[in-house]
Amino acid sequence: MIKNIQLNSFIGLFCAFTFSNVNAQQALFIPSTLSGSTISLDIQQGAVNFLPGNSTPTFGYNGNFLGPTILLNKNDSVSFNITNSLLDITTVHWHGLHVAPENDGGPHQEIMPSQVWSPSFKIRNNASTFWYHSHVHMSTEYQVNLGLAGLIIVHDSTEASYVLPRTYGIDDFPIIIQSKSFDILNQLAAFTHDDSIMMINGTIDPVLDAPAQVVRFRCLNGSADRTYNLGLSTNANFYVIASDGGMLDQPISANRVRLSPGERYELLIDLTGMQGQSLYLMSYASQLQNGIIGSPQVGTGMAQLPGYAMNPLNGADFNLLNIDVVAQTTNPVTTIPVQFQTNVKWLVQNADTSRILTFAPEVMGPQEMVEGPFTISGKSFDMDSINIHIPFNNTEIWSIVNNTMVAHPFHIHDIQFNVVDRNGVAVTGIETGWKDVVLVRPQETVRVIAKFETFYNDNIPYMYHCHLLHHEDEGMMGSFIVNSTASTGINSNIYNDIKVELYPNPVGDILYTTIPKGADFVIYNSTGQVIEYYEKSFLEDKLVVHTSSFVNGMYFIQVKTPKGIIVKKFVK
Ligand code: C2O
Ligand code: CU
Repeated sequence: MIKNIQLNSFIGLFCAFTFSNVNAQQALFIPSTLSGSTISLDIQQGAVNFLPGNSTPTFGYNGNFLGPTILLNKNDSVSFNITNSLLDITTVHWHGLHVAPENDGGPHQEIMPSQVWSPSFKIRNNASTFWYHSHVHMSTEYQVNLGLAGLIIVHDSTEASYVLPRTYGIDDFPIIIQSKSFDILNQLAAFTHDDSIMMINGTIDPVLDAPAQVVRFRCLNGSADRTYNLGLSTNANFYVIASDGGMLDQPISANRVRLSPGERYELLIDLTGMQGQSLYLMSYASQLQNGIIGSPQVGTGMAQLPGYAMNPLNGADFNLLNIDVVAQTTNPVTTIPVQFQTNVKWLVQNADTSRILTFAPEVMGPQEMVEGPFTISGKSFDMDSINIHIPFNNTEIWSIVNNTMVAHPFHIHDIQFNVVDRNGVAVTGIETGWKDVVLVRPQETVRVIAKFETFYNDNIPYMYHCHLLHHEDEGMMGSFIVNSTASTGINSNIYNDIKVELYPNPVGDILYTTIPKGADFVIYNSTGQVIEYYEKSFLEDKLVVHTSSFVNGMYFIQVKTPKGIIVKKFVK
């Protein structure tokens, strides 16, 4: 049996107290499942013997560590009873699920110690793999690191119509990938870059007996900040069938998949005819682009993450899971579907509003460019303020601009989005599927589009944030409210206290605008060509634009103030 080939290269370099103690492979733990119309979770303290010596204090749902996999069907209504048996405040966020803000489990839905939280909601998402985890204000990294995370599998009738592996734990496997750092007393240490121990579903050095047929891996990156570059030790291709929020249009053949924190991809791996062989699911992190945590290099010169170069996983290719291929099951799946249902995506030309969200360090400096703390459009998270107001049913394009030297996985609650482009280049392949997390690399601008439908609430916000958990805890997060007033012909919006109104829309010969005094003001057409430009050239908060010479078509007004940027659309 091949064992830990890739780790051997640096095992000598790295320490007596980690790998040398962990030499026995263990069967991959498969979390139990919960289903039905009432689901109870008890959030508990526990302890696990991860390493020889002291046991490790942990948190878990209905157990010591992590949580059961929750099986849901689209259109079912489910009630939850969630008991907090911890001594700490916690929350339970349904990452990726389209639920009302009061059910979302973000930092505003705190569950006090010994209290019970009982949200109930209808499952509206399409079949895919989601997850639940703590989202408590400023301690998300600590709580997720200790074990507060679990998988959610949503089934629907469309997915059920394809020949796919879907017997949980037999040919359909949860793969929760996490890196951990243990201190000398075997306690899980958060807030370090020393996360050198890998675990899948809480199992260190795991082995899975998988049947010699097509198997399905539901991969979740549940790590605090490490990105993986999934591949097989055989370098064989596999098929990606689903991204965060749903199935792709068709299986896409690949031999590498980049998985940043919070993201999910479902893989089909064809093990047909391989009985008796042994292979590894690996991370080929040496091939990750620099700037991504886990890649060979993050930052340059003075801009360094403390201890980054010392961590043996950074820039290395390493094993995640040993797969021992065993006998086929009865009725094995041995084929890969050719086509799934085509997803109907949001179209850029139908967007009502565009916004720009910019990542920058709170304080400028080389070290700060990689280490943060980071802000989004100049703001740190504030529990009591709302950053963005979105009219109900608005379709929006968010341009996410990364002006830092580290890659950030950006997550939006409530909706699933389509990734439009990266630095103006349309995305392809597995990135064309439904997503709720997108990795934004240094110097990259990523545009995403989504419609904010079904739920509105004038008081309770949803979150958007970096899914590197210490970035989120340090304030790289903002809040948005989907307002009850639907989007109308008169564009009116507030962003970071910027109020912009345009009327009439569609416009004739004159466009009346209300915008903040002293703002820069640019009008451009649908191809991005600038038509009018006013640089702090007016002192009034009203501006009349003569549009008689404008050709018929769609236009955008970008209003830029020190507080942020907002883009509104109008039609001539
Ligand atoms: Cu996975 Cu706002 O969280
Ligand atoms: Cu970040």
